[in-house]
Amino acid sequence: MERFKDQVVIVTGGSRGIGLAIANAFAREGAAVVIAAQNEERGQAAARALRDGGGRAEFIAVDLTRRDQVEGMVQQAIEHFGPIGALVNNAGTHEKAAFCDEPEDLWERMYRINVLGTVLPSQAVVRTMLDSGGGAIVHVASKAGVVGEPGHAAYSAAKGAVIALTRAMAVELAPYHIRVNAVCPGPVFTDMLRAAVPTAAGRDELAAFAPLGRIGQPEDIAGAVLFLASSESEWCTGQALSVDGGLSILK
Ligand SMILES: NC(=O)c1ccc[n+]([C@@H]2O[C@H](COP(=O)([O-])OP(=O)(O)OC[C@H]3O[C@@H](n4cnc5c(N)ncnc54)[C@H](OP(=O)(O)O)[C@@H]3O)[C@@H](O)[C@H]2O)c1
Repeated sequence: MERFKDQVVIVTGGSRGIGLAIANAFAREGAAVVIAAQNEERGQAAARALRDGGGRAEFIAVDLTRRDQVEGMVQQAIEHFGPIGALVNNAGTHEKAAFCDEPEDLWERMYRINVLGTVLPSQAVVRTMLDSGGGAIVHVASKAGVVGEPGHAAYSAAKGAVIALTRAMAVELAPYHIRVNAVCPGPVFTDMLRAAVPTAAGRDELAAFAPLGRIGQPEDIAGAVLFLASSESEWCTGQALSVDGGLSILK
């Protein structure tokens, strides 16, 4: 299957974790993939691995919270591969603390990277999609933005903002054939989860709590993202799809 043959896709944070699985899945489906992240060594290695597997991929270094760098990244992507068909805003960051111990700079980091780091690439890509006739945008939010969870209020609020942004963008951009949806992952085994839940026992406890009995793997999220970016979901916009082993349906 080559569902994305001849399409150009940008995956932010595509150098590791969930983003890398998404980038891999798009490359396997025939897309030309731009991996947009910060760390040069990791990003180049990820793009090289995709090319070694027969895919088309480039890494572009960017701090997604800097408008000038984001606009440069999108321009470079178009010059290299052509018009952007899909954007996946996957890059994000997580820090945990008790609510009363979350200082302003933590709140600022959660909003700058998770929210502004989603808004800036979206603005830069939407401007080009208005000219090219449309496209699909998928934000990676979180279960933390859907249900109440203790220990990371700033992260939850930022991911809740990403879900609200999904609906706002979807309504405003629908007349231009730009669809905007979100995926809300539960706990997925990546560097982020290893930092948040450092012990195997802690992660086992989390897995036991999930109706489907396990923690997610990055590939579990990639499937949902590709569905929302593909023509299979062409009558779907403004939705936030939970992919979390059933955790968000527990009372
Ligand atoms: N893992 C989970 O359990 C889980 C659950 C729910 C939601 N999520 C969400 O899923 C997404 C991916 O999570 P993950 O676990 O795969 O994270 P991860 O392993 O920590 O990877 C984060 C990615 O984001 C990039 N990034 C962060 N800040 C950036 C910036 N300012 N500019 C450019 N790139 C930046 C990183 O690039 P560098 O390596 O270059 O820094 C890296 O590629 C995030 O939005 C996260 O909030 C994760």
